[in-house]
Order: sequence, then C-alpha cells, then structure tokens
Amino acid sequence: AIERTFSIVKPDAVAKNIIGKIYSRFEEAGLKIVAAKMLQLTREQAGEFYAVHKERPFYNDLIDFMTSGPVMVQVLEGENAIAKNREVMGATNPQEAAPGTIRADFAETVDENAVHGSDAPETAAAEIAFFFPEGVCERLR
Ligand code: CMP
Repeated sequence: AIERTFSIVKPDAVAKNIIGKIYSRFEEAGLKIVAAKMLQLTREQAGEFYAVHKERPFYNDLIDFMTSGPVMVQVLEGENAIAKNREVMGATNPQEAAPGTIRADFAETVDENAVHGSDAPETAAAEIAFFFPEGVCERLR
C-alpha cells in the first residue's frame, strides 16, 4: 500500500552539505518528498520526540547532538514507504549498515548516523503530526 513515513536529516549530514545526496537516495528508491522544512530543534522538542529513549544511557548525548545544529524534517510517500525508508537508511549503527545504504555511505557512528526514520505506521503518524501540525498536502501526482 502507499504509505507515508517521517524522516530527519540529522545535524551531522546537514553540516556535511549532503542534504541533496540523501534526498536523491529517497527519490531513487521511489520515495517522494511530500513535505519538508529545515529547523533547529529545541531541547524540549528533541526530548519530546525521543521520549521513548529517556532511560537509555545515550539519551543525553542524543539530545545534545540533535540540538547541535539545523536538521531537515520531511515526509516521504511511496509503496511500503516505512520499510522502504528503513532499507534505504541501513542499520542504526553505520558499522553494521549494508553497503550502498545512506548510513553506510554517509555516517561513521551510531550517535551521528545521518538520518532518522519512523519504525512503524503508528510512530510514522505520530512523528508526522508532531513536526507538521499544520498538516501535509494531499497525495501528489
Ligand atoms: P534514531 O533512529 O534517530 O533513534 C534514536 C537514536 O539514538 C538512534 O537513531 C541513534 O542515532 C542513537 N543511538 C545512540 N546509541 C544507540 C544505541 N545503542 N541504540 C540505538 N540508538 C542509539
């Protein structure tokens, strides 16, 4: 089915000037960018977004990193978009990511791993609503 998923180009990738390269990976995989904006996360926003990780040992470093510079947030649409995006991103740890994936090609460490992508339909819907409360356009043709 056609799905929508939520994606972040993280501060490391924005700083490396590879937003376009990452967007090309999405497009080449058949994922359409149907909403996008650049923003600087506040600690409050990052904390709410990553609340599920609050008790994890990496939480504070994660919030420091995600607020260290601007990010691009986008909504990707396509057949099986949630799983497709996770395939294109590669494993969370770039050292374990398959060759040719975004994380294998553009990231080195699990802390600074270039991209985030929703892991399930429920989180995709919640994450889209969190970052695009104004709504997202209807399906593009
Ligand atoms: P992301 O998909 O944005 O969700 C939480 C982030 O925490 C994850 O990507 C990683 O960048 C980061 N992180 C750091 N250490 C770990 C870890 N041990 N397991 C999972 N995520 C981690």
